[in-house]
Amino acid sequence: MAKQIKIKRISKLKGQITAPADKSISQRAVMFSALAKGSTQINNFLDCADCRNAINAFKAMGIKFKKNREASGDVLYVQGKGLLGLIAPKKPLYMGNSGTTMRLLAGILTGMNFKTELTADPSLSRRPMKRIIEPLRKMGANISGIKINQQEYPPLKINKSCLKPIEYKMLIKSAQVKSCILLAGLFAKGKTTVKELLKTRDHTERMLQLFKADIKVQGLSVSVTGAQELVSPGKVFIPGDISSAAFFIVAASLISGSKIMIKQVGLNPSRIGFLEIMRRMRADIKILEKGAKLNLSEPYADIQVKASKLKAVTISPKEVAYCIDELPIICVAACFAQGITKIAGASELRVKEADRIYSMVTNLRKMGADIKNIKDDLIINGNNKLSGAVLDSYGDHRTVMCMVVAGLLAEGVTVINNSECIDKSFPSFMKTLKSITELT
Ligand code: S3P
Repeated sequence: MAKQIKIKRISKLKGQITAPADKSISQRAVMFSALAKGSTQINNFLDCADCRNAINAFKAMGIKFKKNREASGDVLYVQGKGLLGLIAPKKPLYMGNSGTTMRLLAGILTGMNFKTELTADPSLSRRPMKRIIEPLRKMGANISGIKINQQEYPPLKINKSCLKPIEYKMLIKSAQVKSCILLAGLFAKGKTTVKELLKTRDHTERMLQLFKADIKVQGLSVSVTGAQELVSPGKVFIPGDISSAAFFIVAASLISGSKIMIKQVGLNPSRIGFLEIMRRMRADIKILEKGAKLNLSEPYADIQVKASKLKAVTISPKEVAYCIDELPIICVAACFAQGITKIAGASELRVKEADRIYSMVTNLRKMGADIKNIKDDLIINGNNKLSGAVLDSYGDHRTVMCMVVAGLLAEGVTVINNSECIDKSFPSFMKTLKSITELT
């Protein structure tokens, strides 16, 4: 059912919250646990729509799950069946809105000796799949989507095939594509190598290591040797999602008098581009040493954020991949930063859950922001003033959360229509926000 969020200006954010568990790592943990023989306990698992799509797909292929709600976070128990233990699903597997589930699972399913079909909701059905189909075909996979012009889209049909290892130079900057190839590589005899132009998030590599795969990372090159069983570490801990924490980091930076602590924020070096950019904008962000766990496979720490006067920045195309999911909230920060912020070469934002260049420019302009879009660049003049308006989610969870933060700073009331998509990554977002503000 269509949900509407109404937001008004608040005086400050104060208190402590815990970042919700990381979506990328939670989804990978489901997949790896299902592919390793025996039981895996996933602690602090993210119970959101995208992760439920991943679980349901593996349930339909014979994997058993049990979920427990505990004070310290959700725990997911998975009974894995080994690399070739999945069984043919009776129906097409529905990926909902989850691009990560679809692209990573496609890599796994090309290695199975049964055929499958992956279906999607209308938004995911418009997202490009040639980026994974092309390398998978090079590996010998029998996979196809719906061809429109030069692109291929969901649903994806995957037939039985015999995979061979490849060496793939990836021209697109995408962790989903890299992960898809590496996961397919688990089913190919020999060494599959992916060479990146720059390092995208490396949760798959880290989890391959954790599950004792034969993997080598050398600079921008990752190789995995296939046809070997994964070994479960028994327990996997999922730290908080920096992409979800980002909304609170920006809100607390912008609203004067704010001081918050965010517990358990994931600090994987391939995900902290956003923190570096915020610091360049002169945000007051401290990573607290007490309780920090920086030597884990996925490091995390508590973060303290205080309000500060932000300055504009220039973000180069190279940096875009390091903060791809946080760019929309950086746009909100830029509306209140002194000077002109430039974000160059953000074309990948166009193929997310919505065209995020369009959703952010349209919504922020309605609120009176001085934001321009030239080709795939964004230019934002921080004029420090937004007014409440009636906005739309465009079906995108991150657009909704960005507009909520913008609404906290705007004069008057901000209404965001079709905001139910928040459940995709952060179902408790509004509850968390209310716990550190005077909003009721
Ligand atoms: C993700 C990778 C990124 C990111 C998405 C999650 C992942 O997508 O935007 O939210 O879990 O690998 P791309 O690989 O398309 O850049």
